[in-house]
Amino acid sequence: MRKKIIAANWKMNLTIGEAEAFLDTFLLEIGEESGADIVIAPAFTALSKVAERLSKSSTIKLAAQNMSFEKSGAFTGEVSAAMLRDLYVRYVILGHSERRTLFGETDEIVNKKVRAAHEASLKPILCVGETLAERDADRVEEVLETQLRGSLAGMNSKEIAETVIAYEPVWAIGTGRVASPEQAQAAHAFIRKTIALIADPSVAEKIRIQYGGSVKPDNAKTLMSQPDIDGALVGGASLDPRAFTEIVKAAASCE
Ligand code: PGA
Repeated sequence: MRKKIIAANWKMNLTIGEAEAFLDTFLLEIGEESGADIVIAPAFTALSKVAERLSKSSTIKLAAQNMSFEKSGAFTGEVSAAMLRDLYVRYVILGHSERRTLFGETDEIVNKKVRAAHEASLKPILCVGETLAERDADRVEEVLETQLRGSLAGMNSKEIAETVIAYEPVWAIGTGRVASPEQAQAAHAFIRKTIALIADPSVAEKIRIQYGGSVKPDNAKTLMSQPDIDGALVGGASLDPRAFTEIVKAAASCE
């Protein structure tokens, strides 16, 4: 049985003060909920403060939204895996569609980052997903397979099993247009089948695959009740501590 994993992707939102206000409410609301793994990905600037506030929580883990594949050196503006480890970061979101489309990240770059994350014992949350044009052209499986094979190249089974995959159809991100449970389930089942080919069936059985794209309290439970949907990567709704609490509780109630 795969434990559900819910991640908050705050994107470029919430200053340190705002992150603290979020946690004031969220930590009260969420209490001792441990039916699902909870991950919060603040902006780099708030990592330290959020780490401090989460230090007493064993169920909530910290994530970064990006990192460099380089270890150190003359890379102005970049942040390394070791620097994230310094701040008690455990997960890192990699290959998000905003990184791919706005910052030119290719599967090759994402692959270097995923491998660098594993080397530093950070768990990657690897995002994949098709655009609307690709879906309309019936290319969903081809796109997902290319992204998965490219981003996971050269990794061993143990590393792949410890990677979280986030299926995020680009047309559903921040649009309010959520994939239907059937559309999401079909994509997740295809991703799991592809992982069985890239690694092996036992890795495919173990790996957790989140859905992302306009997840809200009112659609979370139906999505996460699908057999191959193991959690959610939440953008907009994760900025509201009460909405995010409801989504975590929906996940925990699917167990
Ligand atoms: P959204 O974002 O929930 O606002 O659609 C999801 C994401 O980009 O991870």
